[in-house]
Amino acid sequence: MIADRRREDKSKMSAIKVIVHGALGKVGKEVVRAVSIDPATKLVGAVDIKATAKTLNIPDTSESVPFSTNLEEIIEATGPDVMVDFTLAKAAMPAIRIAAKKKIGTVTGTTGFTPEDLAEIDKLAKENGIGVIWASNFALGAIVMMHLAKIAAKYFDYAEIIELHHNQKMDAPSGTSLTTAKGMAQSRGKPFEIPPGPNRGQMIEGITLHSVRLPGMMAHQEVLFGTAGQTLSIRHDTINRECYTPGVMLAVKEVCKLKGLTQGLDKILGLQ
Ligand SMILES: NC(=O)c1ccc[n+]([C@@H]2O[C@H](COP(=O)([O-])OP(=O)(O)OC[C@H]3O[C@@H](n4cnc5c(N)ncnc54)[C@H](O)[C@@H]3O)[C@@H](O)[C@H]2O)c1
Repeated sequence: MIADRRREDKSKMSAIKVIVHGALGKVGKEVVRAVSIDPATKLVGAVDIKATAKTLNIPDTSESVPFSTNLEEIIEATGPDVMVDFTLAKAAMPAIRIAAKKKIGTVTGTTGFTPEDLAEIDKLAKENGIGVIWASNFALGAIVMMHLAKIAAKYFDYAEIIELHHNQKMDAPSGTSLTTAKGMAQSRGKPFEIPPGPNRGQMIEGITLHSVRLPGMMAHQEVLFGTAGQTLSIRHDTINRECYTPGVMLAVKEVCKLKGLTQGLDKILGLQ
């Protein structure tokens, strides 16, 4: 099988050894697949509170890796360089403490960390001489969309954002739309102009945010700019959760070179 051949290639080079914490989750499963097919990384172990077997099959191969509910056991057995975590903040914090003490860098996309959690992660990472990357959005296209919106913000007086998500998303407007709006106003140095007319949604910095929640959608956002006789639209669409893996894999390759906590994929991409 192609994937088996790729893994054989990895044994010949010094691939980054990765464990996935939350390996049975929706994003965790995609990360397991991405780590195992990238020639620069090698999946060596996996952890999930729902693990019921001692091994996890590597997708599309006849191979498996050690699997457990116990992170320390997996670290002892596999000696990883990097832990990727997609769980819950209350599960990620103890895991990051364990990994840091073992000098293992972490890439985490888990949401819900408090400012105190982030300060502790930074301290732990610095004390142990390792890197931790946390990004609330690992979809590369969303990061580029926000960057382009900041550039366009300087040239238009009016802007609105439509964000569209699956109906299970609990919050509205989305965190990404709020971050986009704040970044646009910051780039422009002042709020956008408010066109005359009725109030049609939540307004941030003069930008009206529209939230759509529909079954069948994943995560989508369109930033619309307007001025005399023209509009500009910047749109990002995700099709499935594979959208996070290029950003996660980039972070896995970068985290070994960093010390302390790095927040946001934009810093890894040099888009600041
Ligand atoms: N940064 C991003 O781009 C991004 C994208 C999507 C989701 N997320 C976040 O990533 C996290 C996971 O999202 P998901 O959709 O995969 O959720 P999920 O519920 O499908 O997966 C979470 C996994 O973590 C496991 N888990 C929970 N507690 C654990 C513990 N104590 N020890 C080990 N494993 C434990 C669960 O069993 C589950 O398999 C959430 O915090 C979500 O908000 C971030």
